[in-house]
Amino acid sequence: MTESPPARIFADPAEACRTLAAELVELVTAINASDRPAVLGLATGRTPLPFYAELIRLHRAGELSFAQVITFNLDEYLGLPAGHPESYHSFMRRELFDHVDIPVENVHIPDGMVAPENLAAHCAAYEDAIRAAGGIDFQLLGIGRTGHIGFNEPGSPRDSRTREIELDPITRQDAAPSFGGLDQVPTHAISMGCGTILEARKIALLAWGSGKAAIVKEALTGPISDRVSASFLQEHGDATFYLDAEAGSAL
Ligand code: GLP
Repeated sequence: MTESPPARIFADPAEACRTLAAELVELVTAINASDRPAVLGLATGRTPLPFYAELIRLHRAGELSFAQVITFNLDEYLGLPAGHPESYHSFMRRELFDHVDIPVENVHIPDGMVAPENLAAHCAAYEDAIRAAGGIDFQLLGIGRTGHIGFNEPGSPRDSRTREIELDPITRQDAAPSFGGLDQVPTHAISMGCGTILEARKIALLAWGSGKAAIVKEALTGPISDRVSASFLQEHGDATFYLDAEAGSAL
């Protein structure tokens, strides 16, 4: 028995992000009031940029503190040092962490430079750290053109955990402009698995623009299948799609 996750369609990304950010402030405040840190799963890519900008605005306005927030990022490219401008470590510092009051020890992102012989242990430790933090309260997601969440490319099982993934050619093509050419794009990444993501208590998937309309429709209304890892969200009790009018235009 499944019910499609709700899709909320907004006039534009800014309005969607204002709405979701206000909801997140409420959630973090309520969790912190119960005297525990709020655990957030964070995403990268162009999509969450206006959302992070709104979180920074709310922080500056004194409405949101990250002092009692723990974060886990979905993924990181393999072979990129944290200081590489396209690493997700750099992205997160630039777009969010450098502008808010999150304690550095509360931030978790997979290490793209982990040695091959340590990779399995690194991934297992990432899972352990999520569990030790009490699990993810709120998971932010984008969606790739292959339907991936995190870097869970087609074929990623429903119960997959944090692991090494070979990137789909479409995903690498999409990343090529920011890397300055396809040959510069890493071939592999570390990503939380579908199973890791689905254990988050609340999930918000963001998508903007007509380029995402077809895959959004497929994820929300197509068969639940490892061909489109976002389709697994249909089986999550508290996953919501936040869309602009264009991304929701095929629904
Ligand atoms: C990358 C990220 C995903 C993201 C996707 C879409 O593959 N690993 O988390 O959702 O890109 O990117 P964009 O938001 O730039 O469209």
